[in-house]
Amino acid sequence: MKKIAITGSNGFIGSTLTRILKKNYDVISLVRYGSNIELLPEDSTIVYIDYHKPDKIAEILKDVEILIHTAALTRAKTWQQFKKINIDLTEKLVDIFNDTESLKQFVFISSQAASGPAQSKTTPKIESDKCEPISMYGRSKFLAENIIKEKANKPWTIIRPVAVFGPGDKDFLQYFKLMKSHLAFITGFKKKYINLIYVDDLVEITSKTLVNEKAYNQILFASNSEAYSLENFIQNLGSFMNTYFITIHVPEILLYPIALIGEFFSIFSKKPPIINREKIKEFKERYWLVNNEKANKLLDFKPSDNIVQNLQTTYNWYKEKKWI
Ligand SMILES: NC(=O)c1ccc[n+]([C@@H]2O[C@H](COP(=O)([O-])OP(=O)(O)OC[C@H]3O[C@@H](n4cnc5c(N)ncnc54)[C@H](OP(=O)(O)O)[C@@H]3O)[C@@H](O)[C@H]2O)c1
Repeated sequence: MKKIAITGSNGFIGSTLTRILKKNYDVISLVRYGSNIELLPEDSTIVYIDYHKPDKIAEILKDVEILIHTAALTRAKTWQQFKKINIDLTEKLVDIFNDTESLKQFVFISSQAASGPAQSKTTPKIESDKCEPISMYGRSKFLAENIIKEKANKPWTIIRPVAVFGPGDKDFLQYFKLMKSHLAFITGFKKKYINLIYVDDLVEITSKTLVNEKAYNQILFASNSEAYSLENFIQNLGSFMNTYFITIHVPEILLYPIALIGEFFSIFSKKPPIINREKIKEFKERYWLVNNEKANKLLDFKPSDNIVQNLQTTYNWYKEKKWI
């Protein structure tokens, strides 16, 4: 069996990749010392690492063929934090990749945020469009992509998922929790659209890029095919959660002060707030939309567009794990 190593493998996406890829690959889960491993399957091969010790990482990777890099900060208080993890760590891993003979492919889980939002509902972003990230997170992912493209001297694949949901995710969990308390918040009054991808679909796309020459040195959006309005998404949630809810439209003019309050209280915490000025920039955009044709054609992939069923599975998982 081919050996794969996954950074960030205890996270939402990393743990799902580990669980599914383990069926066909020898997967090594790279995890930081002291990290929470509750999402990883019990029989995972966990190797604890210190990202400040590249020599030790190189030693661990000496007989690994594919490195999947998912570790990242999706929220941070400062640009320095984003830079250190999302850019500098990626560069360090690319150096190790170049110097490690056994490694044949570097797969980077980037983000739609690297490319930025689309201009309209009818012009979803395509991979060759100019990247126009609007947040520090997006910029850090974009710059990390550039490092891979410029420095990697062997095949790489960059996957840019749209918003990912599924068992283990803590972001969409907040929507589910609000709906359970009969509330749904929408920012502003203009219709906003998003694409979504179920985590198992993202894993399938990733899996189809592995040792696949067609995917070498390619950037691919990972998304299902529907553009969901936020109202539509919330209605779907409400229908299978079998709950009534009140939709509150928060005027955009209030978002900035709300973010400032969040940031003020987060001064006393190590964690960045759920809502800050960076997130507000993202919330205000109306068209977080991409065209998924390139990945679908290249990888012969068909996303499971049954969002209700996948949301239901996610909800059941949250209930089973008592996250909700
Ligand atoms: N979820 C989405 O909707 C979405 C959409 C597009 C792209 N992505 C990308 O997908 C990847 C995984 O996201 P996720 O949703 O699975 O996030 P997640 O659950 O927060 O997992 C993040 C992973 O990164 C690791 N990490 C965080 N800070 C680190 C640091 N300082 N040094 C080393 N590792 C660190 C975490 O390890 P610890 O537990 O040790 O902190 C964890 O394993 C990220 O690259 C993200 O940008 C996610």
